[in-house]
Amino acid sequence: MNITMLGTGLIGRNYTTALHAGRSRDRVTAVYGRSNESVQSFAREFGIDHATTDMHSAISDPATELVVVGLPNHLHETAVMAAVKAGKGVLCTKPLGRNAAEAYRMLQAVEQAGVFAGYLEDLVYTPKTLKALRSVAAGALGTVLWARSRETHPGPHSDWFFDKQLSGGGAIIDMGSHCIEIARNFIGKHIRPVEVMCWGDTQVHPIDAEDHAVGMVRYENGAMGQFECSWSFRGGMDLRDEVSGTEGTIWLNHWLRTGFEMFTATGQNGYVAEKAEGDKGWLFPVGDEEASLGYPTMFDDMFAAYDAKIAPMETFYDGYVVNAIMDAAYASMQTKRWEAVQLTDWRGASDVPHVSVRRDYDADFHIIKEELMADGSTKVILRHKLTRALEQRVQR
Ligand SMILES: NC(=O)c1ccc[n+]([C@@H]2O[C@H](COP(=O)([O-])OP(=O)(O)OC[C@H]3O[C@@H](n4cnc5c(N)ncnc54)[C@H](O)[C@@H]3O)[C@@H](O)[C@H]2O)c1
Repeated sequence: MNITMLGTGLIGRNYTTALHAGRSRDRVTAVYGRSNESVQSFAREFGIDHATTDMHSAISDPATELVVVGLPNHLHETAVMAAVKAGKGVLCTKPLGRNAAEAYRMLQAVEQAGVFAGYLEDLVYTPKTLKALRSVAAGALGTVLWARSRETHPGPHSDWFFDKQLSGGGAIIDMGSHCIEIARNFIGKHIRPVEVMCWGDTQVHPIDAEDHAVGMVRYENGAMGQFECSWSFRGGMDLRDEVSGTEGTIWLNHWLRTGFEMFTATGQNGYVAEKAEGDKGWLFPVGDEEASLGYPTMFDDMFAAYDAKIAPMETFYDGYVVNAIMDAAYASMQTKRWEAVQLTDWRGASDVPHVSVRRDYDADFHIIKEELMADGSTKVILRHKLTRALEQRVQR
């Protein structure tokens, strides 16, 4: 695959590193950046022939098939529309838009033009997450009731993130977008997100947007997606997911607690891992950052889907749904009430029943709980099917 990379910042670098890793045949062959100096140096470092400060020239390069958008959020729509106009497939990083209206225009544009499009939500593609999703699909957790996802760190690395007009918001649009899509994948993308309750505040950065937020997304079947995102967290980058179902639980740690812990009194005089705060004392390096964040597996899925002319696992439609959920979160932050998720185009299931688990104890009773106690007895708590009366039996 020959690729045009738009952006040479943090994500442009991460994507290109992942794309060129190992003996990969996929190459970034054209790159766009804002400053000539940085785009030229990026091109030299990664061996890219066509380096330019003209976005349209990079997009229309005849040698490339797919355009990857790794630009600040306010430029996603411009870049996607330009790729569509050039008849190129387009992969866009998160968030798809600054709001659902922007995301929906991008979705409509790729669908009407019939060009291939993928939503680069890497964190649902980490090897751990893909395996966990397979376990959930195989029924290992029963019905997922609660999916909690956290992304927190001390704040982003570029000025535009802190400008609400350019980014579309603060920690929610930046990191809540990941958490929301992770929860959607575990709960089931076909289940409609109905409403959102969200708290957000500006705690430590002198900015207009929220730098900390916690929200709950209620799905039609009663499942809860919980997102926790912060730019005020100290200690590096915390990426964690917890999934709780009627029959099981999954906990995932993607950063900090990956099983690589190191103490150094002297320090190593340099980079340890993304968003690490310092290089002395106890450190939590990450073995392969790109793989841990899901980039190689994400691009594998995108390219396989492109070759097979099918939709990838993460589509622009998913990006649009995530934006609609975030719009509701921002509304709820203001009103302090549950706010409806406004989806003018819902493509999932409708009238999904509320989750309900009833286990028979015998012909007359449902069992609520059974527990082995410290004194060796077993407590069984029952409810009569007709009278609904509770009963506790202790078996020794
Ligand atoms: N895990 C992820 O999926 C992930 C991680 C980081 C960033 N992102 C996303 O990638 C996009 C870019 O983020 P980043 O961290 O690479 O940003 P960055 O600031 O590190 O890089 C931005 C790039 O865009 C270029 N640019 C062009 N016009 C610009 C303008 N008007 N203002 C600022 N930069 C301009 C810059 O030259 C630079 O190459 C954002 O949408 C962000 O949300 C995704």
